[in-house]
Amino acid sequence: MSSAWDARLARRAARIFPSLRFDFDSLPAHPDAISLAGGVPPVECLPIERLAAATRQVWAEAEPATFAYDETQGHRPLRELIASRMRRRGADVDPDTIVVTAGAQQGIDLIARLLLDPGDRVVIEAPGYFGAFQVFDHYEADIVPVPIDEQGLLPAALERALATPPRPKFIYTVATFQNPTGVTGGAARRQEILALAARFDVPIVEDDPYGELWFEADPGPLRALDPHVIYLGTFSKTLAPALRMGWIAAPAALMRLLIDAKEAVDIQGDRLVQRAVVRACADSWFDAHLDAARRVYRARWETLQALLERYMPDGVRWTRPCGGFFAWVTLPAGLDARELLSAAAAAGVIYLPGSVFYPDLRPSASLRIGFSTLPEERLAAAIERLGGVIAAALTTGTRSGP
Ligand SMILES: Cc1ncc(COP(=O)(O)O)c(C=O)c1O
Repeated sequence: MSSAWDARLARRAARIFPSLRFDFDSLPAHPDAISLAGGVPPVECLPIERLAAATRQVWAEAEPATFAYDETQGHRPLRELIASRMRRRGADVDPDTIVVTAGAQQGIDLIARLLLDPGDRVVIEAPGYFGAFQVFDHYEADIVPVPIDEQGLLPAALERALATPPRPKFIYTVATFQNPTGVTGGAARRQEILALAARFDVPIVEDDPYGELWFEADPGPLRALDPHVIYLGTFSKTLAPALRMGWIAAPAALMRLLIDAKEAVDIQGDRLVQRAVVRACADSWFDAHLDAARRVYRARWETLQALLERYMPDGVRWTRPCGGFFAWVTLPAGLDARELLSAAAAAGVIYLPGSVFYPDLRPSASLRIGFSTLPEERLAAAIERLGGVIAAALTTGTRSGP
């Protein structure tokens, strides 16, 4: 960038995190590199034919009104579909309190746009979803990381963060099958988090992209336990990321402002795609599709778990997700997952090192494994390679990390 542009940039532009915050191109190349970095549905779980047929029908009908400006809040039948699905998961949501967004990511942006002034404090999970940090940073928020354990936010640490003035504007949490760790809080932990939020009068923003992808049973969203929770949903992981379709279920008092903010950002979502999704999800097809996808993810997680047990050296620990796409692997003390990545790439396996999931990019002995995209034999090759690299680092004593 020329210095002339440097001088013209808005303050917030200088704060934009680089995309993904990790440059895989700088790593050693391998002819058969296997990536554990993904967090998306695999091709075999994308209902391409069903979506294509529904899209063809919507276009063929050529309903003139559909081609106009309108429906900033989102197509009413789509909001009804979303509300009825949320009600089935225990969250009493009305279609009038839903705004359809361009993915959950736009939902995070709209909430931040409405609630954050520069310098406002926002509580986040550490490690947590870096896409949310990107947004909060953009609005010049003061991001307050709160550590998590196998059940999510640690109540004592959350209490300290909430009690420290000035009071945070909100708590952002992925309470179910968290990105990046896969962890989910049990009923007692969830009640503790909700009680703290209520005691300090700080709203919770629940981002729930993976909640419907449980392996055995639906833990339900936080929103089912408390109607004050602002809920972000998406079809990116259940149908396809390219649809760019998500939603916010918000308190009625925020609706007018959310719809106005959505209009200011992009006027409205894609009305044709919204109609196609409603059509595709008719006749309980969506339930059957999700059941099949859940079976794929559960089988991949079970495979991964067996592989970790087989190939990880002593001292390596990992989370045991009950749904979603991710497990979080922690190396023995002294190893740094970012430093190990070059050796791993040279051996033919790449992953996202734990440090990218902290807003300050602190060194981390952990790494995220995305298991949704890899069939058994690829997963096996990846974990065997990773185990070899960790074992070599432990024996050669290249410990320099945290
Ligand atoms: C926690 C979380 N929130 C939001 C998103 C973005 O979702 P969308 O594609 O709906 O914008 C992701 C995608 O990985 C995610 O993991």
